[in-house]
Amino acid sequence: MAKILVTGGAGYIGSHTRYFLEKSGHTTVVLDSMERGDQRAVPAGMLRQVDLRDSAKVKQVLREEKADAVIHFAAYMAVGESNERPEAYFINNVGGSLSLFEAMLETGVKCLVFSSTAAAYGIPGKVPITEDQPYAPINPYGESKVMVEKILGWLDKFRELRSIRLRYFNACGAEPESGLGERHDPETHLIPLILRAVQTGKPVTLFGDDYPTPDGTCIRDYIHVSDLAEAHIVAVEYLLKGGGSDAFNVGTGGGRSVKEVLAAVERVTGKKAPHTIGPRREGDPPSLVADSSKLQKTLGWRPKRADLDGIVRDAWEFAQKG
Ligand code: UFG
Repeated sequence: MAKILVTGGAGYIGSHTRYFLEKSGHTTVVLDSMERGDQRAVPAGMLRQVDLRDSAKVKQVLREEKADAVIHFAAYMAVGESNERPEAYFINNVGGSLSLFEAMLETGVKCLVFSSTAAAYGIPGKVPITEDQPYAPINPYGESKVMVEKILGWLDKFRELRSIRLRYFNACGAEPESGLGERHDPETHLIPLILRAVQTGKPVTLFGDDYPTPDGTCIRDYIHVSDLAEAHIVAVEYLLKGGGSDAFNVGTGGGRSVKEVLAAVERVTGKKAPHTIGPRREGDPPSLVADSSKLQKTLGWRPKRADLDGIVRDAWEFAQKG
């Protein structure tokens, strides 16, 4: 069993991964600036409040905690915001990562799992998407993740820092019992926004119904956050056993349209989800679905919670807790 440093462990996916690491018998420590993290998502005594760009402090934490590996989530993640303030995304996501990697190299921590994204592919040439499709981000958020992926390629080649880059599709749901869930401020993601519409009666806007898809709305691959968390566990364990650097898509392989998600919310809550149809949102590809067979074959991971109603049920349970 290992000691894992989880950067961004007070965030949505980071906190779930920290929870599953502990359940698997690993010890964890969370490093988070708390600029956007949620205090409630970190158990008492587990948080080291540090900004990643403070490399000296990160080094100190790595030494004091005697970490064996790092899982690196800490980053800004709102696509729209990244279009408005690209510099903030490069400073925080790329600058923060570089500072972390410098600290890891200096303290001899050579295993890293990196939180990457399907946004690295932009508008993909073919769907389902395999990992060999080229980098083609269409927003600064995606570009910031691609830059870090490329940096990791060089650090593997010349500095023996081994890394697994996990490219997530649409993370959603919540782990029942954990008390954890999705709490972004502002919230931009589809499932929590539809649930909020059910709760408040204020309509959610569906961004476009004139896409070249069967019902005209965008198709995405919704992956339960607990399945995503488990992908991190197998990835870090693989690295700790000496596995080499690689990149994997993490999705279910099943695409669901915005209208199908809305229908699932209505089924699960038993209530109408008030909505209006608005214009398309800039930069939304019509369809993003993962081919995650490489992850399944290489690391033996399987999505266990792919049923959309089950995902929505878990998100609804969390949303009702307020
Ligand atoms: N949508 C709406 N109305 C809303 C919000 C979203 O119709 O109010 C639609 C979007 O147009 C999209 C789908 O719901 O078709 C999902 O949108 P999300 O904002 O929930 O998620 P994205 O697919 O835009 O983004 C996710 C991650 C990003 C990542 C991206 C990869 O949140 O971090 O997938 O493409 F970059």
